[in-house]
Amino acid sequence: MPRILSGVQPTGNIHLGNYVGAFRQWVDMQHDFEALYPVVDLHAITLAYSPDELADRTLEAAALLLAAGLDPDVCTVFVQSHVPEHTELAWLLNHLATVGELRRMTQFKAKAETGGEGALPAGYFNYPVLQAADILIYQADRVPVGEDQRQHLELTRDVAERFNARFGQTFVVPEAYIPKVGGRVMDLQLPTAKMSKSSASPAGRIEVLDPPEAIRRKVRSAVTDSGREVLARPDKPAISNLLELFSVATGSTVGELERTYAGRGYGDFKGDLADALIAFLAPVRERYHELRGDPAHLRAILEQGAVKAQAIARENLALAKERMGFLPRSSG
Ligand code: TYM
Repeated sequence: MPRILSGVQPTGNIHLGNYVGAFRQWVDMQHDFEALYPVVDLHAITLAYSPDELADRTLEAAALLLAAGLDPDVCTVFVQSHVPEHTELAWLLNHLATVGELRRMTQFKAKAETGGEGALPAGYFNYPVLQAADILIYQADRVPVGEDQRQHLELTRDVAERFNARFGQTFVVPEAYIPKVGGRVMDLQLPTAKMSKSSASPAGRIEVLDPPEAIRRKVRSAVTDSGREVLARPDKPAISNLLELFSVATGSTVGELERTYAGRGYGDFKGDLADALIAFLAPVRERYHELRGDPAHLRAILEQGAVKAQAIARENLALAKERMGFLPRSSG
């Protein structure tokens, strides 16, 4: 069975973009692939974070993944830092990624432009190398992610190809899998920017755990485009985004929705969209609260996941080190 891997950072504020762009695919794909889904806590410390909250956020992210429909008997959900082989491989791969290409990563460039790169932690700069290690250490064939991760996937492929060319065929060169609808959910207040966990305006971000009133309020106050037509067009980025979300939440196509709302204006459309999103997220929120109420059970699932993941990671790390010429320990 081909293998897939994808991860989410436990930074709180997990939102509709994460759910639609990533988790939904993860749930669908778990049955057709051998699937590994780490909560990537080591990535969450690359910018300022609160040590008092990290463990809680990690459990929260894991509970959300299970609530979204990941079945721990079918796929492997685990915590990245529980499998320290990821960090060891990242160090090895650091010798194959260049400063120039890491500096070209849009996420790094954006942060460097606002505050200057000199003050950024080196971990933030090296973040994509750890991501490459997360993927390559499992020999993943495919990586289901949102559009914003495309560049990191390209880097991962380049690093894998370079490793194979330098040390002999070792790693599978993985492919990104990005959904056609919902791969880039935009901020409801600023439809030219992606919905993000760290965006300044919480009004532009629907969180998976938002109660129904909050969802309704955010949809009602979502910015719209000039005109009154409910149409998906490049010059209507706000309505196009809302139509995509509506489509994902209901299973209707964007074309069908355009026909339903032809001549009816934004008011009706937004009211129905809010209902659809509330119905879409309610089961996830309910299941989340059940799971979160039993942390011992959650931790047992993560432990079982770490055991399964580590067995694979250990083998591939050993292979990489052997190919790179390291002296093995005599105890094996
Ligand atoms: P993270 O935690 O920011 O996001 C988790 C997933 O959600 C997707 N996503 C979106 N999709 C559509 N629209 C949006 N507005 C939106 N915002 C986020 C992301 O593309 C991602 O798939 N670097 C990664 C975590 C990571 C990883 C990995 C992913 C670490 N190692 C290995 C894949 C494989 C990140 O920060 O995702």
